[in-house]
Amino acid sequence: MIDLKGHLAIVTGGSRGIGRSIAEALLEEGAKVAICGRDQATLAPAIREMSGSGRIVGQPCDVGRWSNVESFYSFVDRELGGVDILVNNAGVGRFGPVDQLSPDAWDEVIRTNLSGPFYFSHLAVPRMKQRGGGFILNIGSLAGKHPFASGAAYNASKFGLAGFTEAMMLDLRYSNIRVSTIMPGSVQTGFRGRSTSGSEWKLDPAAIASMAVHLVKTPARNLASRVEMRPSKPRRA
Ligand SMILES: NC(=O)c1ccc[n+]([C@@H]2O[C@H](COP(=O)([O-])OP(=O)(O)OC[C@H]3O[C@@H](n4cnc5c(N)ncnc54)[C@H](OP(=O)(O)O)[C@@H]3O)[C@@H](O)[C@H]2O)c1
Repeated sequence: MIDLKGHLAIVTGGSRGIGRSIAEALLEEGAKVAICGRDQATLAPAIREMSGSGRIVGQPCDVGRWSNVESFYSFVDRELGGVDILVNNAGVGRFGPVDQLSPDAWDEVIRTNLSGPFYFSHLAVPRMKQRGGGFILNIGSLAGKHPFASGAAYNASKFGLAGFTEAMMLDLRYSNIRVSTIMPGSVQTGFRGRSTSGSEWKLDPAAIASMAVHLVKTPARNLASRVEMRPSKPRRA
């Protein structure tokens, strides 16, 4: 397995939920990690709490805004000096039937869940090539495979992300950059402002994080390009 000690990682949306668990797991492996989120009031304590386990830095950034992403990479270049691992995790959900979904809600979901991973990857790839290779992991969703009513925007973003991920994998495989996606079902996080109590049947964010680390550590001749994860015993309807 690959030793991640000293590897340089970016985790978008690393201040809460799945992204935070992945940032913690990468830190435990000895990687240096840069995280972002929009809300400084969530980001700052997250960085403080994780700073005991290794080198972590962060700066607010809306992944769906190109100028924010450019500034974030200037920060990363300064603080880490490059990137070996990019985890495109930040995502939002806005739900409703098409006639009731506002154009603003549609734009927010597509910008965050689809344009964000493109912006981050666009700037990561030349940096990875310069360092001889890298790993891009996109956190998709089973909603990128199974449409559901009221899911038009979210499904479109995650179906799009699945296609983007696979095309990018084909683009980059001969440049020593592996690209993969984890597509989870329901995970026990505060996604969409949900409470986490009473949802112990859902996937544990730590399980997504240990899968993420396993994928990145897997020897470079191998690639699990798409991993589906789901609660073993979903709540019966
Ligand atoms: N939870 C689930 O059931 C589930 C299932 C399948 C897939 N997923 C996917 O997993 C990923 C993480 O979900 P989660 O459940 O961990 O969500 P979460 O608990 O709501 O955390 C989302 C993280 O992303 C950040 N974020 C949101 N929008 C952002 C933006 N525009 N720019 C930068 N950061 C942003 C949030 O920080 P700020 O709010 O401060 O920006 C936060 O750190 C998402 O892509 C989601 O679609 C989740």
